This record gives sequence, structure tokens and C-alpha cells, in this order.
Amino acid sequence: MYRRGLAAVVLVFAGAVVASLPSASAHDDKGPIVIGHRGASAYRPEHTLAAYELAARMGADFVEPDLVSTKDGKLVARHENEIGGTTDVSTKTQFADRKKTKVIDGTPVTGWFTEDFTLAELKTLRAKERIPAIRPRNTLYDGRFEVPTLQEVIDLTKRLSRELHREIGIYPETKHPTYFQSIGLALEPKLVDVLNRNGLNRRGAKVYVQSFEVANLKELNKSLRVPVVQLINASGAPYDFVAGGDKRTYSDMVTPAGLKEIATYADGIGATKDRIIPRDAAGFLQQPTTLVQDAHKARLIVHAWTFRNENSFLPADFRSSADPAAYGRAFEEYDLFFKQGLDGVFADNPDTAVEAKVKR
Ligand code: G3P
Ligand code: CA
Repeated sequence: MYRRGLAAVVLVFAGAVVASLPSASAHDDKGPIVIGHRGASAYRPEHTLAAYELAARMGADFVEPDLVSTKDGKLVARHENEIGGTTDVSTKTQFADRKKTKVIDGTPVTGWFTEDFTLAELKTLRAKERIPAIRPRNTLYDGRFEVPTLQEVIDLTKRLSRELHREIGIYPETKHPTYFQSIGLALEPKLVDVLNRNGLNRRGAKVYVQSFEVANLKELNKSLRVPVVQLINASGAPYDFVAGGDKRTYSDMVTPAGLKEIATYADGIGATKDRIIPRDAAGFLQQPTTLVQDAHKARLIVHAWTFRNENSFLPADFRSSADPAAYGRAFEEYDLFFKQGLDGVFADNPDTAVEAKVKR
């Protein structure tokens, strides 16, 4: 936790103190931060060095590697441990017998899993576009890029920080932490070790660490001197709560009492947009909730996910046509959400987010 970085901003109106809010971010960036979600994943296959580099060059303040483990305990950037959807592993006959069905966070999943591959084996694979129907242009890059390690992501951000004369931060997320602990490949000590070895576990380092689970974030917070962020999903509950029989849900966690509890171990929340402005069954926006204000009252910063330009992901209010792959009126969505007082946005199109932020 980095509580001292959350300097209070006292608002004075007509001589009276009317509010006390945390500053825009624990790193004192100007205005809402832009986080390249899985890199610039609208333009390159996600979680590749090419996607992260493009995000930084487009103006992102941070790049976001989701983290899973290899068989030999190396942290690599993938959204999930099953890699059939984002690599060419299914075309590799030498790995055909690695295809398995496993129960991950209570759900059966069939495919190929990072924990069954050494890093050397994983490095023989190449990334591919996850959603080619929505992002057909990205398939041009299929087969070109490796699965990167966290260390390679850090090396890239250090090089780009020097070249661009501004610091590019990292915003790693532990994926399936309870599962990886259960198979003896806990992510947390490896993450702390990599941050330590790179001089990034210190106050002021441009790093946030995030998790959908609670227990691992609490433990990480004891070892980290950088801010930690509790992710909040639209429904359901943290998987460590489910596995441990704890009945609390994400909905319980966003009540004022729940936010107060989060503030005992975290510096902020990373909430799905639907928790900030819900949508109805047809996809149209409803009235904003009080989550941003409630979180700020609890001295928690608020980052929201995920902003994407395509109609497929936009609220119905801002779609340009029935074509799911066409761009809709993304700036209107950013404008609306920035007005809610967000401290940061996870964006697949970091260039659009930066433009929206500058002109807000
Ligand atoms: O970590 C914030 C956001 O990325 C959470 O969603 O599923 O894309 O990791 P996901
Ligand atoms: Ca993520």
C-alpha cells in the first residue's frame, strides 16, 4: 500500500470546506491515467511486446500485463492460463498431448495451459488475435510475436521510458491466484521478487498491482511498497471467497462498508464500467451509481475497465450501426465516464483514451 501517495485535496467553496478527496492517483499523474489494456490490444494481438510498445507510443501512462505461471515458475503475460485462444499452440503436433480439461476457478476448461509448458517450450509458440471477427486487421500480426515474460515487459518499459522521456508504468494483475497456489506455482512471491530485482518495489515506483481476489492482494500488500488495487467485477464473488465458503460478493464489496474494508488493504478499486454506469438489458446506459463518490470518500482511487471503440463493446447509446466491428461514438462514452470523476481508464485503444482525456 502506498497510502501517503494519496494526498488529500481539500475543495473550498465560498469559504467553506465542502469535500476532501484523494488526489488523482497515487503517482500524482495529471488527470486520469490511461492504462494500455493488455497493451494496445485493439491494434495488435494482446499481451505481446508489440502491443505494449504501441500503447506506450500512443501515450499510455501504464501498460497492463495479466500474469500466469509457466511449469518452471516464470511469470508470463497472458489473460488466462489456457493459451489455445491467444497462441498457435493448437497447430503444434509436438504439444497435441498437452491438451487437457481442468477445473479453473470452478469452471471446466479444455485446452493448453501455461503451467504445463516450460518457458523454453512456451517461447516456441506465437501469439494470435483473440477476437479476429471484431479485429480482423490484427490477424496480420498473427504468428509474429512471442509470449513475453514479466521481465521482458519491464525491460521494454525501461527502454521506452528512456526513449520517450517519460516514465512508462506497469500495472500487473495476478490471474487465477488461488488456482496457481493450489498447484504449487504461487504467483505472488515471484511477482514481489521480480519487482524487487528491478528496483520497482519502492514508494514512488510507477507500478500498481491488481487482483480480482482478496486474500492474495492482502498478502501482497504486506510485501509491496507500491499501490494495490482491488478489482471489482459486475457480478459474482472473488474466487478465494467462493473457495473458502465466504458468502460475500462483489456487490457487498462496493457498499460503503465494503469499501471501508477494502481501504484497510488497498489503495484503489478497478471496477467494471457497469458498476459505475449500469446498462439495461438492451445495453442502454442507466443512471450512474454513487460508486466513484463512495470510493473517494473511503480514500480509494477508482480505475474503470474496459474502454473499447467498437460497437460490440459500447453502450447501445453510442453505437454507430449494427456492425459489431465498426467504431461507435467512443468519445461520448469517455466524456460521460470522465465526468463521473474517474482516476484512470483501462483502454484497448490508448490513443483514443489520451485524446479524450486531453479534450475533456
Ligand atoms: O484488470 C482490469 C481489467 O483488465 C480486468 O479485466 O479480464 O481484462 O483482466 P480483464
Ligand atoms: Ca487485467
